[in-house]
Amino acid sequence: MKVAIIHEAPVPTSASRQLMMAFMKRAVKVMYLRLSRLVSYISSSEGWVSVGSDTKLEELDAAVVRGLGSVATLETLLRRVNLLKQLESRGTVVVNPVNSIMVARDKHLSMMELRKAGLAVPETAVVEDVFDAVEIAKKWGKVVIKPLIGSMGYGSILASDPDMVYNVGRLLQMHGLPIYIQKYVRKYERDIRVFVVKDRVLGAMYRYCPEGTWKTNVSQGARTETAELTEELAEVALKAAKALNLLYTGVDIGETDEGYVIYEVNATPQWEGFMRTTGINPAEYIADMVIEIVKN
Ligand SMILES: Nc1ncnc2c1ncn2[C@@H]1O[C@H](COP(=O)(O)OP(=O)(O)O)[C@@H](O)[C@H]1O
Ligand SMILES: [Mg+2]
Repeated sequence: MKVAIIHEAPVPTSASRQLMMAFMKRAVKVMYLRLSRLVSYISSSEGWVSVGSDTKLEELDAAVVRGLGSVATLETLLRRVNLLKQLESRGTVVVNPVNSIMVARDKHLSMMELRKAGLAVPETAVVEDVFDAVEIAKKWGKVVIKPLIGSMGYGSILASDPDMVYNVGRLLQMHGLPIYIQKYVRKYERDIRVFVVKDRVLGAMYRYCPEGTWKTNVSQGARTETAELTEELAEVALKAAKALNLLYTGVDIGETDEGYVIYEVNATPQWEGFMRTTGINPAEYIADMVIEIVKN
Protein backbone atom coordinates (compact mmCIF):
# COMPACT_ATOMS: atom_id res chain seq x y z
CA MET A 1 0.00 0.00 0.00
CA LYS A 2 1.23 3.49 -0.86
CA VAL A 3 0.07 6.66 0.83
CA ALA A 4 1.04 10.31 0.46
CA ILE A 5 0.76 13.10 2.98
CA ILE A 6 0.07 16.23 0.97
CA HIS A 7 0.63 19.78 2.19
CA GLU A 8 2.53 22.86 1.16
CA ALA A 9 4.80 23.36 4.19
CA PRO A 10 8.46 22.92 3.11
CA VAL A 11 9.09 21.03 6.35
CA PRO A 12 6.33 18.60 7.38
CA THR A 13 4.32 19.87 10.35
CA SER A 14 4.01 17.77 13.49
CA ALA A 15 0.66 16.37 12.37
CA SER A 16 2.17 15.33 9.03
CA ARG A 17 5.10 13.69 10.81
CA GLN A 18 2.80 11.81 13.15
CA LEU A 19 0.75 10.58 10.22
CA MET A 20 3.89 9.38 8.44
CA MET A 21 5.04 7.54 11.54
CA ALA A 22 1.61 5.96 12.02
CA PHE A 23 1.61 4.66 8.44
CA MET A 24 5.19 3.40 8.69
CA LYS A 25 4.32 1.52 11.87
CA ARG A 26 1.64 -0.23 9.84
CA ALA A 27 4.13 -1.16 7.10
CA VAL A 28 2.58 1.26 4.62
CA LYS A 29 4.90 3.06 2.21
CA VAL A 30 4.44 6.77 2.85
CA MET A 31 5.78 9.90 1.18
CA TYR A 32 5.43 13.62 1.77
CA LEU A 33 4.44 15.75 -1.21
CA ARG A 34 4.31 19.52 -1.59
CA LEU A 35 1.37 20.79 -3.58
CA SER A 36 3.31 23.49 -5.42
CA ARG A 37 5.73 20.87 -6.77
CA LEU A 38 3.05 18.62 -8.18
CA VAL A 39 2.24 18.91 -11.84
CA SER A 40 -1.13 18.11 -13.34
CA TYR A 41 -0.82 16.63 -16.85
CA ILE A 42 -3.59 16.00 -19.33
CA SER A 43 -3.28 14.19 -22.67
CA SER A 44 -5.88 12.64 -24.96
CA SER A 45 -5.33 9.27 -23.34
CA GLU A 46 -5.11 10.17 -19.66
CA GLY A 47 -4.70 12.69 -16.90
CA TRP A 48 -1.99 12.17 -14.30
CA VAL A 49 0.08 13.87 -11.66
CA SER A 50 3.84 14.08 -11.50
CA VAL A 51 6.38 15.31 -8.98
CA GLY A 52 8.23 18.05 -10.79
CA SER A 53 7.98 18.02 -14.55
CA ASP A 54 8.91 14.42 -15.36
CA THR A 55 8.66 12.01 -12.41
CA LYS A 56 5.27 10.44 -12.85
CA LEU A 57 3.77 9.81 -9.46
CA GLU A 58 3.41 6.12 -8.73
CA GLU A 59 -0.20 5.05 -8.31
CA LEU A 60 -1.23 6.13 -4.80
CA ASP A 61 -3.75 4.16 -2.79
CA ALA A 62 -4.51 7.12 -0.61
CA ALA A 63 -3.53 10.71 0.08
CA VAL A 64 -4.09 12.58 3.31
CA VAL A 65 -4.34 16.27 2.55
CA ARG A 66 -3.09 18.40 5.42
CA GLY A 67 -3.93 21.74 3.84
CA LEU A 68 -3.96 23.57 0.54
CA GLY A 69 -1.37 26.14 1.62
CA SER A 70 -1.95 29.86 1.66
CA VAL A 71 -2.87 30.79 -1.88
CA ALA A 72 -2.86 34.33 -3.18
CA THR A 73 -5.13 33.82 -6.15
CA LEU A 74 -8.32 32.00 -7.00
CA GLU A 75 -6.50 30.44 -9.95
CA THR A 76 -3.87 28.78 -7.74
CA LEU A 77 -6.52 27.55 -5.34
CA LEU A 78 -8.43 26.01 -8.25
CA ARG A 79 -5.29 24.44 -9.67
CA ARG A 80 -4.51 22.74 -6.37
CA VAL A 81 -8.07 21.56 -5.94
CA ASN A 82 -8.25 20.24 -9.50
CA LEU A 83 -4.93 18.47 -9.13
CA LEU A 84 -6.30 16.63 -6.10
CA LYS A 85 -9.41 15.83 -8.09
CA GLN A 86 -7.13 14.33 -10.74
CA LEU A 87 -5.78 12.00 -8.05
CA GLU A 88 -9.31 11.18 -6.93
CA SER A 89 -10.33 10.34 -10.47
CA ARG A 90 -7.36 7.97 -10.78
CA GLY A 91 -8.76 6.02 -7.86
CA THR A 92 -6.70 7.45 -5.03
CA VAL A 93 -8.65 7.76 -1.79
CA VAL A 94 -8.25 11.42 -0.91
CA VAL A 95 -8.79 12.24 2.77
CA ASN A 96 -10.54 14.48 3.42
CA PRO A 97 -12.48 14.36 0.15
CA VAL A 98 -11.55 17.38 -1.95
CA ASN A 99 -15.09 18.75 -2.12
CA SER A 100 -15.42 18.49 1.66
CA ILE A 101 -12.17 20.38 2.15
CA MET A 102 -13.54 23.14 -0.05
CA VAL A 103 -16.78 23.40 1.90
CA ALA A 104 -15.03 23.36 5.27
CA ARG A 105 -12.55 26.01 4.14
CA ASP A 106 -15.36 28.34 3.21
CA LYS A 107 -16.94 29.54 6.45
CA HIS A 108 -20.03 30.86 4.68
CA LEU A 109 -20.82 27.59 2.89
CA SER A 110 -20.03 25.60 6.05
CA MET A 111 -22.63 27.52 8.04
CA MET A 112 -25.20 26.94 5.28
CA GLU A 113 -24.57 23.18 5.29
CA LEU A 114 -24.55 22.90 9.09
CA ARG A 115 -27.84 24.74 9.37
CA LYS A 116 -29.40 22.55 6.67
CA ALA A 117 -28.35 19.52 8.70
CA GLY A 118 -30.31 20.89 11.64
CA LEU A 119 -27.33 22.07 13.69
CA ALA A 120 -27.30 25.30 15.68
CA VAL A 121 -24.88 27.98 14.48
CA PRO A 122 -24.31 31.60 15.52
CA GLU A 123 -26.40 34.12 13.59
CA THR A 124 -24.27 34.91 10.56
CA ALA A 125 -24.39 37.35 7.67
CA VAL A 126 -22.10 37.66 4.67
CA VAL A 127 -22.27 41.07 3.03
CA GLU A 128 -20.46 43.16 0.45
CA ASP A 129 -21.70 46.60 1.42
CA VAL A 130 -20.11 48.06 4.54
CA PHE A 131 -23.33 49.86 5.50
CA ASP A 132 -25.17 46.56 5.60
CA ALA A 133 -22.49 45.27 7.98
CA VAL A 134 -22.87 48.32 10.22
CA GLU A 135 -26.65 47.97 10.40
CA ILE A 136 -26.35 44.29 11.26
CA ALA A 137 -23.77 45.05 13.96
CA LYS A 138 -26.12 47.65 15.51
CA LYS A 139 -28.83 45.01 15.68
CA TRP A 140 -26.64 42.24 17.10
CA GLY A 141 -24.49 44.21 19.56
CA LYS A 142 -21.30 42.26 20.03
CA VAL A 143 -20.12 40.77 16.72
CA VAL A 144 -17.19 38.87 15.32
CA ILE A 145 -15.80 39.63 11.86
CA LYS A 146 -13.87 36.70 10.47
CA PRO A 147 -11.91 36.11 7.28
CA LEU A 148 -14.16 34.01 5.02
CA ILE A 149 -11.24 31.68 4.57
CA GLY A 150 -8.89 31.55 7.52
CA SER A 151 -7.75 29.53 10.47
CA MET A 152 -6.02 29.47 13.85
CA GLY A 153 -7.90 32.57 14.94
CA TYR A 154 -5.83 34.85 12.70
CA GLY A 155 -7.65 37.90 11.37
CA SER A 156 -10.84 37.53 13.41
CA ILE A 157 -11.96 40.68 15.19
CA LEU A 158 -14.41 41.18 18.04
CA ALA A 159 -16.35 44.43 17.82
CA SER A 160 -19.04 45.93 19.99
CA ASP A 161 -18.70 49.35 18.38
CA PRO A 162 -20.42 49.79 14.98
CA ASP A 163 -17.69 52.24 13.98
CA MET A 164 -15.11 49.53 14.38
CA VAL A 165 -17.24 47.37 12.11
CA TYR A 166 -17.36 50.30 9.70
CA ASN A 167 -13.58 50.69 9.63
CA VAL A 168 -12.81 46.98 9.30
CA GLY A 169 -15.64 46.47 6.81
CA ARG A 170 -14.52 49.41 4.70
CA LEU A 171 -11.00 48.06 4.42
CA LEU A 172 -12.29 44.64 3.44
CA GLN A 173 -14.60 46.22 0.87
CA MET A 174 -11.72 48.28 -0.55
CA HIS A 175 -9.77 45.07 -1.04
CA GLY A 176 -12.70 43.46 -2.79
CA LEU A 177 -13.37 41.08 0.09
CA PRO A 178 -16.80 40.17 1.45
CA ILE A 179 -17.52 40.80 5.12
CA TYR A 180 -18.37 37.76 7.23
CA ILE A 181 -20.09 38.94 10.35
CA GLN A 182 -21.37 36.80 13.19
CA LYS A 183 -23.22 37.45 16.41
CA TYR A 184 -20.95 36.87 19.41
CA VAL A 185 -22.51 34.01 21.33
CA ARG A 186 -20.89 32.27 24.23
CA LYS A 187 -21.66 31.61 27.88
CA TYR A 188 -18.12 30.94 29.13
CA GLU A 189 -14.63 32.12 28.26
CA ARG A 190 -13.98 28.86 26.48
CA ASP A 191 -15.14 26.55 23.73
CA ILE A 192 -14.97 22.82 23.15
CA ARG A 193 -12.87 21.08 20.51
CA VAL A 194 -14.17 17.63 19.65
CA PHE A 195 -12.14 15.28 17.48
CA VAL A 196 -13.96 12.90 15.17
CA VAL A 197 -12.53 10.11 13.00
CA LYS A 198 -15.18 8.48 10.81
CA ASP A 199 -17.99 7.33 13.13
CA ARG A 200 -15.90 7.61 16.24
CA VAL A 201 -15.53 10.55 18.58
CA LEU A 202 -11.99 10.38 19.97
CA GLY A 203 -12.43 12.91 22.74
CA ALA A 204 -13.13 16.48 23.71
CA MET A 205 -11.23 19.31 25.31
CA TYR A 206 -12.06 22.74 26.66
CA ARG A 207 -10.03 25.57 25.22
CA TYR A 208 -9.90 28.60 27.51
CA CYS A 209 -8.98 31.95 26.02
CA PRO A 210 -5.96 33.66 27.54
CA GLU A 211 -6.79 36.38 30.10
CA GLY A 212 -8.23 39.48 28.44
CA THR A 213 -8.74 37.88 25.04
CA TRP A 214 -11.63 36.05 23.40
CA LYS A 215 -10.01 33.54 21.05
CA THR A 216 -9.74 29.92 22.05
CA ASN A 217 -7.32 28.68 19.41
CA VAL A 218 -4.37 26.74 20.79
CA SER A 219 -2.16 28.68 18.38
CA GLN A 220 -3.36 31.89 20.10
CA GLY A 221 -2.22 30.61 23.47
CA ALA A 222 -5.40 28.94 24.73
CA ARG A 223 -5.13 26.77 27.85
CA THR A 224 -6.69 23.36 27.38
CA GLU A 225 -8.27 20.77 29.60
CA THR A 226 -9.95 17.44 28.88
CA ALA A 227 -13.73 17.85 28.68
CA GLU A 228 -16.32 15.26 29.52
CA LEU A 229 -17.61 13.75 26.33
CA THR A 230 -21.35 13.72 26.91
CA GLU A 231 -23.67 11.89 24.58
CA GLU A 232 -25.13 15.18 23.36
CA LEU A 233 -21.71 16.65 22.60
CA ALA A 234 -20.64 13.54 20.71
CA GLU A 235 -23.87 13.56 18.74
CA VAL A 236 -23.47 17.21 17.73
CA ALA A 237 -19.87 16.65 16.62
CA LEU A 238 -20.72 13.52 14.63
CA LYS A 239 -23.62 15.27 12.96
CA ALA A 240 -21.34 18.17 12.00
CA ALA A 241 -18.75 15.81 10.52
CA LYS A 242 -21.49 14.07 8.52
CA ALA A 243 -23.00 17.36 7.33
CA LEU A 244 -19.70 18.30 5.69
CA ASN A 245 -18.81 14.73 4.72
CA LEU A 246 -15.49 14.83 6.57
CA LEU A 247 -13.69 11.57 7.38
CA TYR A 248 -11.81 13.20 10.20
CA THR A 249 -12.34 16.60 11.73
CA GLY A 250 -11.95 18.88 14.71
CA VAL A 251 -15.24 20.56 15.53
CA ASP A 252 -15.30 23.89 17.42
CA ILE A 253 -18.37 24.01 19.65
CA GLY A 254 -19.65 26.84 21.83
CA GLU A 255 -21.86 26.66 24.89
CA THR A 256 -24.75 29.12 24.98
CA ASP A 257 -27.95 29.56 27.02
CA GLU A 258 -29.80 27.86 24.16
CA GLY A 259 -27.39 24.91 23.98
CA TYR A 260 -24.45 24.08 21.74
CA VAL A 261 -23.55 26.08 18.64
CA ILE A 262 -20.98 25.20 16.03
CA TYR A 263 -18.36 27.83 15.29
CA GLU A 264 -16.38 25.85 12.81
CA VAL A 265 -15.69 22.41 11.38
CA ASN A 266 -12.05 21.91 10.39
CA ALA A 267 -11.08 19.72 7.44
CA THR A 268 -7.37 19.81 8.28
CA PRO A 269 -7.27 20.28 12.04
CA GLN A 270 -4.01 20.39 13.94
CA TRP A 271 -3.90 18.16 16.98
CA GLU A 272 -0.83 18.96 19.03
CA GLY A 273 -2.91 20.58 21.78
CA PHE A 274 -5.50 17.83 21.68
CA MET A 275 -2.82 15.17 21.94
CA ARG A 276 -1.00 16.87 24.79
CA THR A 277 -4.26 17.33 26.69
CA THR A 278 -6.03 14.05 26.14
CA GLY A 279 -3.10 11.73 25.44
CA ILE A 280 -4.90 10.58 22.29
CA ASN A 281 -3.00 10.70 19.00
CA PRO A 282 -5.52 11.14 16.14
CA ALA A 283 -2.84 10.07 13.61
CA GLU A 284 -3.18 6.45 14.78
CA TYR A 285 -6.92 6.46 14.18
CA ILE A 286 -6.67 8.30 10.87
CA ALA A 287 -4.07 5.80 9.60
CA ASP A 288 -6.28 2.84 10.58
CA MET A 289 -9.29 4.43 8.91
CA VAL A 290 -7.42 5.17 5.66
CA ILE A 291 -6.07 1.61 5.48
CA GLU A 292 -9.54 0.21 6.07
CA ILE A 293 -11.08 2.36 3.31
CA VAL A 294 -8.34 1.32 0.85
CA LYS A 295 -8.80 -2.38 1.66
CA ASN A 296 -12.56 -2.33 1.15
N1 LIG B 1 -19.69 33.89 16.88
C1 LIG B 1 -18.82 33.66 17.86
N2 LIG B 1 -19.13 33.95 19.14
C2 LIG B 1 -18.24 33.71 20.14
N3 LIG B 1 -17.02 33.19 19.95
C3 LIG B 1 -16.66 32.86 18.70
C4 LIG B 1 -17.54 33.08 17.59
N4 LIG B 1 -16.92 32.66 16.47
C5 LIG B 1 -15.72 32.21 16.86
N5 LIG B 1 -15.56 32.32 18.19
C6 LIG B 1 -14.37 31.90 18.94
O1 LIG B 1 -13.23 32.12 18.16
C7 LIG B 1 -12.58 30.90 17.84
C8 LIG B 1 -12.06 30.94 16.40
O2 LIG B 1 -13.11 31.01 15.49
P1 LIG B 1 -13.27 29.98 14.30
O3 LIG B 1 -14.55 30.26 13.61
O4 LIG B 1 -13.07 28.60 14.81
O5 LIG B 1 -12.12 30.42 13.32
P2 LIG B 1 -10.63 29.87 13.08
O6 LIG B 1 -10.68 29.28 11.73
O7 LIG B 1 -9.77 31.07 13.14
O8 LIG B 1 -10.33 28.86 14.15
C9 LIG B 1 -13.64 29.83 18.07
O9 LIG B 1 -13.06 28.60 18.42
C10 LIG B 1 -14.47 30.41 19.20
O10 LIG B 1 -13.95 30.13 20.47
MG1 LIG C 1 -11.46 27.20 14.77
